[in-house]
Amino acid sequence: MHTSSFLSLLALAAVPLASAGNGNGNGNGNGSGKSCSQKGLDWYAKKAGLKYFGAATDSPGQRERAGYESAYAKYDEIMWKSGEFGQTTPTNGQKWLFTEPTQGSFNFTEGDVVASLAHKNNKLLRCHALVWHSQLAPWVEAKKDWTKDELRSVIVSHVTNVMKHYKGQCYAWDVVNEAFNEDGTYRESVFSTVLGGEEFIELAFQTASRLDPKAKLYYNDYNLESPSPKTEAVRKLVKSLQKKKIRIDGVGLQAHLVAESRPTLDEHVAAIKGFTELGVEVALTELDVRLQTPANATNLAQQKEAYKNAVGACVQVDGCIGVTIWDFYDPFSWVPFVFTGEGAALLWFEDFSKHPAYDGVVEALTNKTQGHDGKDPRGAKRWIA
Ligand code: XIL
Repeated sequence: MHTSSFLSLLALAAVPLASAGNGNGNGNGNGSGKSCSQKGLDWYAKKAGLKYFGAATDSPGQRERAGYESAYAKYDEIMWKSGEFGQTTPTNGQKWLFTEPTQGSFNFTEGDVVASLAHKNNKLLRCHALVWHSQLAPWVEAKKDWTKDELRSVIVSHVTNVMKHYKGQCYAWDVVNEAFNEDGTYRESVFSTVLGGEEFIELAFQTASRLDPKAKLYYNDYNLESPSPKTEAVRKLVKSLQKKKIRIDGVGLQAHLVAESRPTLDEHVAAIKGFTELGVEVALTELDVRLQTPANATNLAQQKEAYKNAVGACVQVDGCIGVTIWDFYDPFSWVPFVFTGEGAALLWFEDFSKHPAYDGVVEALTNKTQGHDGKDPRGAKRWIA
């Protein structure tokens, strides 16, 4: 479960980084990334018909753990040069807390670090996240008596300024993040309290749709990987926006999974299809699979299956366009800071050896995933080696 106040505290504790890249245009990449000549995960993903396999990353000043500076060279090599990843997402730097820390004054220093590295290294950029109750600048929540008009203009100004700054650089934007509870009701936040869930989401998408016609506009959330009241609520949202002719292009399934209680391949496929059949694309946007530490042969095998099911489902369903893991190197994972006793959620261990799950991802990308009906499952996307 997410402990949002704790997340906000973590983010507040992060040290801003002084230097920034220029963040100049990355193009609205179309997934044709040219940096995939080496056989890494991104290479396999593209062969399997996906646009990318990516990893989120943070600007060095914000990484979850200090004291790993000696690992940076190797880390950067894998992140940017190895051909493992064709896409990235800034894990923190584009969030409200960083981009509009005080009302009306915008700061893109942190987000630009990752955006410019993505550009320099020819990686597709997913941009994250415009309107979210967590890691929100404190001023938005401090004022208790926002009028509807005031809060509407706060949202419009934030979305407008941030999207204008990154215009042309983002393949996709997570426009609204985590707006629903598990039972499908709207999560309580300053936005839903003042404006109502429906209205603030519509306003965010409506505003975003005018600003960067090429950026895909996503609704992004966790626990959307198996059919549930929450997936139903998001399907309803998509249909309602479509009916009102408000642009929504995609649903992001964060996919923060748990090794010991992972969704089955069937569940993943059903959940993804539930969205793609509405005519929006799907991406796994923050995939990680945490386990009870220490890792052992049993839970690493469960983790491998969890990764394989998630990635394999995305490969199987036409309209699931890519997979992003939430960083790739265990020491920089958010998991141990939020989920007590859990960790080792990514694909590279602390010593840079790979988890067994890495092979699970390759197996999924090379169409070795067993079909949900037991037959060779591949639909539109076929392994074309
Ligand atoms: C996490 C980051 O990885 C952490 O560094 C930060 O302290 C908290 O947020 N859902 C999201 C992501 O949409 O933005 C969150 O990222 C993880 C959960």
